[in-house]
Amino acid sequence: MEKLIIKQAGDNHLEEIKDIVKEAFDRPGKNEHFNEWEFVDKVRNDSGFIPELCLIAAVDKEIIGYIMLSKALIGKNGGLSLGPLAVKPSYQRKGIGKRLINYGMKKAKEKGFEWIVLTGGDYYTQFGFESASKYDVVLSNNHPENSFLKIKFLDSNREVSGKMRFCDSFYNENGELL
Ligand SMILES: CC(C)(COP(=O)(O)OP(=O)(O)OC[C@H]1O[C@@H](n2cnc3c(N)ncnc32)[C@H](O)[C@@H]1OP(=O)(O)O)[C@@H](O)C(=O)NCCC(=O)NCCS
Repeated sequence: MEKLIIKQAGDNHLEEIKDIVKEAFDRPGKNEHFNEWEFVDKVRNDSGFIPELCLIAAVDKEIIGYIMLSKALIGKNGGLSLGPLAVKPSYQRKGIGKRLINYGMKKAKEKGFEWIVLTGGDYYTQFGFESASKYDVVLSNNHPENSFLKIKFLDSNREVSGKMRFCDSFYNENGELL
């Protein structure tokens, strides 16, 4: 898409970002414990927040996409988790998600990160994300989200295994994953 720019999200973009994430994730009957758009604010005060890896896609000053990569752990090894990722519905299936992921992965690699994990579906396979269980990476034993946990190694020589932890914002006060 012409004129699409990807840049770091600022505090002044927060309301618009939240609207997009809400539009992308909200659906009739959605009644989940945690809504993805609440995360947009929450994570900015987290020690796992990396401003340069919190990005927006914009066309003519209109924000149409958002991606966030934040710090994560596998055992004691530090890397990144990806999410939320959202593209404004009227702009979906035009390659914007792909541009945001490829740009985010490039920036992550430049910053020296070696792996990215996420919970998500088949969409991520095209970017080289593999089932994390293949590497014995799990959230905790028998965690229901384990089957959605995916990993991408940015450095092909690097492999890790063990329990994975997102940054604190991803958990409730009881330590449960939101
Ligand atoms: C998922 C999402 C981020 C994808 O962004 P997008 O800009 O619509 O996707 P793209 O146009 O970059 O898609 C790239 C390719 O993936 C395919 N694709 C898109 N959505 C897909 C899906 N849900 N599953 C599998 N493949 C998908 C496209 O067909 C496209 O293929 P092509 O390159 O051969 O044409 C976007 O649809 C969205 O915001 N969805 C709602 C929120 C969400 O589910 N976020 C991810 C949570 S894990």
